[in-house]
Amino acid sequence: MTSIAASQNTSYRYGVSGSSPVNPFVGLRPFNTDEAMLFFGRGAQTIELLEHLHRARFLAVVGSSGCGKSSLIRAGLIPKLEAGFLVEDRDRWRIAVMKPGDSPLRNLAASLLNAISLQSNDTDINGFIDEIRSAGSQTIIERLAPALADTDTSLLLLVDQFEEIFRFNLQADKVERRDEAADFISIMLALAAQRELPIYIVMTMRSDFLGDCDNFYGLPEAMNRGQYLVPRPTRQQRGQAIEGPIRLFGAQLTQRLLDRLLNDVGDQTDQLPVLQHALMRTWEEWKRSGDPKLDLCHYEAVGTIKDALSRDADKAIAGMSEQDLKITQRLFQALTTRDERGRRIRRPAHQSEIEAITGASSDQVRTVVERFRSGGRSFLNLDEGSGDSLIDISHESLIRQWDRLGRWVDEESEAASTYLQIVDVAMRHARGRAGLWGNPDLQIALDWRAKQRPNKAWAERYHSDFETAMSFLDRSLRKRKLTFAMRALSIAAIVIIAVAVLLIVQRKLQQDRFQESVRIQQERMRDAIEATVDGLYRAGNDQFEGAIQKFDEAIEKQKDYAAAYFHRGIAKVRLGQKDEAANDFEHVLTLPVDEAMRVDAERFVQNLRAPPAPPPDDPASAERRTQLINEMFNDDRATRIAAATALILEWNKDPQVIPSAIAAARARRANSSGVINTLVLLENMDRQMLMKHRVEINDFLDTLSEPSPGPQTALRIRSLRDLLRGKPEQ
Ligand SMILES: Nc1ncnc2c1ncn2[C@@H]1O[C@H](COP(=O)(O)OP(=O)(O)O)[C@@H](O)[C@H]1O
Ligand SMILES: [Mg+2]
Repeated sequence: MTSIAASQNTSYRYGVSGSSPVNPFVGLRPFNTDEAMLFFGRGAQTIELLEHLHRARFLAVVGSSGCGKSSLIRAGLIPKLEAGFLVEDRDRWRIAVMKPGDSPLRNLAASLLNAISLQSNDTDINGFIDEIRSAGSQTIIERLAPALADTDTSLLLLVDQFEEIFRFNLQADKVERRDEAADFISIMLALAAQRELPIYIVMTMRSDFLGDCDNFYGLPEAMNRGQYLVPRPTRQQRGQAIEGPIRLFGAQLTQRLLDRLLNDVGDQTDQLPVLQHALMRTWEEWKRSGDPKLDLCHYEAVGTIKDALSRDADKAIAGMSEQDLKITQRLFQALTTRDERGRRIRRPAHQSEIEAITGASSDQVRTVVERFRSGGRSFLNLDEGSGDSLIDISHESLIRQWDRLGRWVDEESEAASTYLQIVDVAMRHARGRAGLWGNPDLQIALDWRAKQRPNKAWAERYHSDFETAMSFLDRSLRKRKLTFAMRALSIAAIVIIAVAVLLIVQRKLQQDRFQESVRIQQERMRDAIEATVDGLYRAGNDQFEGAIQKFDEAIEKQKDYAAAYFHRGIAKVRLGQKDEAANDFEHVLTLPVDEAMRVDAERFVQNLRAPPAPPPDDPASAERRTQLINEMFNDDRATRIAAATALILEWNKDPQVIPSAIAAARARRANSSGVINTLVLLENMDRQMLMKHRVEINDFLDTLSEPSPGPQTALRIRSLRDLLRGKPEQ
């Protein structure tokens, strides 16, 4: 009986043995052995293969990807072997089918056990592998002998997709893998060479991997002895491959569709897989239409050879959630790879690995996988033989034909090369042969990490030193941060020191300048104020002029010196320069001065800007005079000065001023400031007026002398008596 260990899962298969015929085309996947009836156009090649096997027990079937190698063996050669075409009276065959995958010895052991016994569990397989490892091919011969020797049974070992064995090159860190590959090849060649048991070995391999065979001892020689290069089907054979299955199903296609198909296929790569897929969809479309024959319209409706595959794959992801799309992307990236020569190849992976890489649950992965297996989309294969299902892309042509997947594969290989670069430098760093990374490399790597979010399961595919690589990045990042911080700190330090030095120097300069100017101002002011006071009391204009000059100097030195303006204003009042005085007081009000000076200045401005005094006999004038005299006794100094000044300036010839002022002073003798103001006022009255009231004034002075007055009052009394006696001014 036939047992196909790694038989394709065909959830969507032709219906000859099933309950209802569905579709005579298999789509993207290779033909299975039980689909031999649907397999057309390879009669001649099958005969040639049989002839080869007749001569030698080892055969390497080589051809470009998608040229139909696997199908040729599975649906062409194997059925013929089973039909007794190779060896007369030995028409019983055991068929072991395997792909090397990640673990060629394990897969070999599993497929052989499967071929000779009905069931085998993990323990059987593991035990068998251990034996193979220690005793090599002899173990296999011993194990197979009961099933093969002394019976008329032969065994065919099909090593499909042999090129997978070369994938170890991608994993430079995994020496065991390389050793396992070498062991596998030598066992395979030994099995082919021995003559104890009738074991035949057929392997299929992509022709673009021929050069890689050189890496293994004995392999090129064996391949030279038995190699079959699969030719591309001729136009006529392609015609058979199209028409045969349709006729078998009792249907027909129009001549124009046949011509169109043959033309469209032309010489493009992947002609068989895209043709198979397009025909499968065209058949469905025709079935739906109910038309008598398959025609152009059905073919065009599915997107023709050019688009059908890509469109179909895009349909599988249409309407997916963002999360499922991400899982899909990572899934397909995990199932494909680019080898070191840039060849895009598939890479079967176990479901557990896919879950670890994508971070998705088992259900999520299954849901996504099913989308690519259902509805006639045989894009993914699921081999549920072992507990942990093996997932595989059904054909590499999908990578080439589905644009999106092509892009994903390219992105993946870029990510892998970035990762490997990091691993490389991280390892050199660990050995002291390289420093930590700085920009731009570090930034590129960090950006990559943020976008890719690599995890250990993913990285494991390419190199196992994931932690070393990531901690190298982290350490580089810390160093960069530190360097930045140090740089920022030192810049800040320089700036701070510079500013501090500048401030100190400036401050010192300012202080020196300020103190000097304060000293000068104080000197000038003292002089000036003394002069004003002198002027006020002696009524000597020259003193006022001298004072003003000193104030001018003070103002020039320091523009906004409020006190200087204020006192210059007073001096100008005394000199009768009313407007200029008012200007000075107004200027004082624009400066930041203390409250007392502000109030004084306001009063001055008020009085100086007041309209000229009305004539003396005017009642308003009398009222104003009384008010001014009263203000001379005010508690507020500024009011007193302003009032005295106004009386001296405006009212010094008024006959009522002297008697009124004396009356007020007599009444308020306790108010010494007011009394002194009265004395200053009398001193400054018009001489004629003064003489006219001489008796009255002397009387008043007498009352002030008892009890003895303060020094200021005494000084003013003496100077007034001199004036009244007609003594000249000093
Ligand atoms: N004789 C044939 N007629 C029609 N389709 C074929 C034939 N041989 C192969 N195919 C199709 O071509 C594609 C590739 O076949 P496969 O055997 O997997 O090629 P290979 O192993 O060379 O990559 C599959 O879709 C398969 O169904
Ligand atoms: Mg194949």
